[in-house]
Amino acid sequence: MNKITDKKVLILYGTRFGATEEVAEKLKEMFEKKEIKTDIFDLKKVKNKNLPKINNYDGVVIGTGIKMSMWVKEVKNYLNKEKEKLKQYSGKKAFFISSAFAAQQERYDEIKKQYIIERIEKLGLEFQLIEAFGGKLDLSDNSRMGWLDKKIASVVAKEHEPDMKNNIVDFRDWKKVEKFANDFIELIIA
Ligand SMILES: Cc1cc2nc3c(=O)[nH]c(=O)nc-3n(C[C@H](O)[C@H](O)[C@H](O)COP(=O)(O)O)c2cc1C
Repeated sequence: MNKITDKKVLILYGTRFGATEEVAEKLKEMFEKKEIKTDIFDLKKVKNKNLPKINNYDGVVIGTGIKMSMWVKEVKNYLNKEKEKLKQYSGKKAFFISSAFAAQQERYDEIKKQYIIERIEKLGLEFQLIEAFGGKLDLSDNSRMGWLDKKIASVVAKEHEPDMKNNIVDFRDWKKVEKFANDFIELIIA
């Protein structure tokens, strides 16, 4: 039987308010449960030159939050800079976003196309696995949002939860995150 303990995965993410970070951490937890060694880096905090080489890994997972339809700048820069290496990379690649609109069933396909498929095609990149997870809008006192972001977020949050019983509106489907992790593990150990 194949040992899977020698497999390694790299997770790179960009987050503005913390939602994508929590998804990335969940993926790490899922991989490590299967004894896949996982390194994780916040692209806003670590410079490209200090990141490990992707060739040291069997798989790379890249994730970003969405604001005003845009990826986190550092994720966009990373992909632009590393696209040739990513194209030649022989390991498995996955990409995900955390976006409020992706949680709306009727918008999901369009959001996935607009926020992921069209953009990675433009970069000439191919990922074996892509997913658009829902987002989280944290309007609490602990939120990382500034006042303007909070104002915009509260409009979106009220669309989903008109009575706004909670000041944290979480549209992420953790079962979907788990499935994504398991699908990636299957690709890695295949
Ligand atoms: C100011 C602001 C603008 C946003 N714009 C969008 C948007 O254009 N499309 C979308 O799907 N979600 C949008 N969202 C929701 C975020 O994508 C969602 O909160 C996501 O989980 C954020 O990820 P992060 O916390 O990792 O940055 C916006 C949220 C804020 C606060």
